[in-house]
Amino acid sequence: MSALSEAVEAVVRRAGRQLLEVHGDKGVREKSAHQDLVTRYDGQIQRFLETELLALLPEAGFLGEEDLGDDAPVGRETVFIVDPIDGTTNFVKGLPHCGISVGLARGGVMELGVVYDPYLDELFSAVRGGGAFCNGRPLHVSGASLADSVVVLGTSPYYRQYADRTFALGRALFLRAMDVRRIGAASLDLCYLAAGRMDCYFEYLLSPWDYAAGSLILQEAGGAVTALDGSPLRFDRPCSLAAGTPEAHRELLALAAEIG
Ligand code: IPD
Ligand code: CA
Ligand code: CA
Repeated sequence: MSALSEAVEAVVRRAGRQLLEVHGDKGVREKSAHQDLVTRYDGQIQRFLETELLALLPEAGFLGEEDLGDDAPVGRETVFIVDPIDGTTNFVKGLPHCGISVGLARGGVMELGVVYDPYLDELFSAVRGGGAFCNGRPLHVSGASLADSVVVLGTSPYYRQYADRTFALGRALFLRAMDVRRIGAASLDLCYLAAGRMDCYFEYLLSPWDYAAGSLILQEAGGAVTALDGSPLRFDRPCSLAAGTPEAHRELLALAAEIG
């Protein structure tokens, strides 16, 4: 593991402790829509991550989900892509399933990914070409075909215009797979595929901070991840996402092409 990765992991674990120390009013507000929530902790943790990560790599840009009025990472070759709390609705409801997600992209390619679930104390990590790990244990996708898959749905909750297609594809997958799940944190969905706990995942629209780190972790565990039309993921703008074991991913793309 690289020294940088180790240092990033230590920072992300410290950020996770802040989620465990939450008490009282979370300071919940609506953002782009009634369903799109933000809490005081999203901003607090993003600021902490920005300060600590840029201290490790001062030449890097920083792209975080929360608009804190900082400069955009325009034109930077190396960029941290950060979701301070992935699964904010879970956090607001007290459902203990959230990820703190930090990716590092160089020239549009993910080089490093760390996703931390402080509730289970599970830290998922990968460096390009170095494999994927959970708390130091190597991760591998399950190898399941769609028929043997548990499929996790992403519902693009802030973009209700995708509801019909989401549930049409979700239904088609449910009828071919073992079962479906909806757990509510895209970064952890990708890590759970990497760990072989689930086998297939799609979402019609996500932002780079949702999948930057998790997509590398999944690839390094032997999984496949692209946009739903099979094109490579982009990290400079929102994108759809299709992920799975190589076989389940192929079947998912074929079904998505039928449904549109
Ligand atoms: C959301 C979660 C959710 C996914 C949404 C994301 P947030 O992130 O990852 O599982 O379905 O598309 O926006 O808003 O909780 O950081
Ligand atoms: Ca997110
Ligand atoms: Ca978030």
